[in-house]
Amino acid sequence: MKPNRRKFIKGAALVGIGAALQTNRAEAGIKLLIQQTGADKFELPPLGYAYDALEPFIDAQTMQLHHGKHHQAYVNKLNEALDKEPSLKGHTLEKLLGKLGSCPETVRSAVRNHGGGHWNHTFFWALLKKETQPGKKTTEALQTAFGSVDAFKKEFEKVSASVFGSGWAWLISENAKLRIVSTPNQDNTLMDISPMQGRPILGLDVWEHAYYLKYQNKRADYIQAYWNVLNWDQVEKNLNG
Ligand SMILES: [Fe+2]
Repeated sequence: MKPNRRKFIKGAALVGIGAALQTNRAEAGIKLLIQQTGADKFELPPLGYAYDALEPFIDAQTMQLHHGKHHQAYVNKLNEALDKEPSLKGHTLEKLLGKLGSCPETVRSAVRNHGGGHWNHTFFWALLKKETQPGKKTTEALQTAFGSVDAFKKEFEKVSASVFGSGWAWLISENAKLRIVSTPNQDNTLMDISPMQGRPILGLDVWEHAYYLKYQNKRADYIQAYWNVLNWDQVEKNLNG
């Protein structure tokens, strides 16, 4: 097999979230290790489920636009930035985000915004599935950190609702301690420039593009709906990661 072909397959397996690739994701856990392909390009990963799979909580049109347009645009613009700075080619997305502080200034904002957008959305898609329940380890971890699963949910709702403008709410593990934090825009806690550092366990996109078609300005309703589509199985894997 040609080296480029092998590299492409490796990259595709690591970013893929399709059913056939679940084993890789399970093994990889949170370590998504999003790779550039053989052509040194990042690619839009498949959702792994139908656009209408989360109805009625998240509508098909929102999913289609969110994945096919917004996420695709982050991938395209990230690739455009890397084309301007070939020294950044050949690295995983995690490595690029973890070294933003030393990224050439000419493309730093683009890698931050679009690289962050690519990572955050890839992480988010895997966290969406109907009808799952918190696993044993997740339940115990949330009880230890917040008192109960419900207490965690209340705190997470509060942080999600209070994000000003566009951003994300996260449950992160910081030195094995769970914390709820938020980041602006497409920042995340893997970025060396982020004031909060930690391994994301669970995240919620609270940009208006994630909910406006169905919920308009009622972000609180969208946050409530999230509990119906949160993939607790993936949360458990991320905790184990
Ligand atoms: Fe988004």
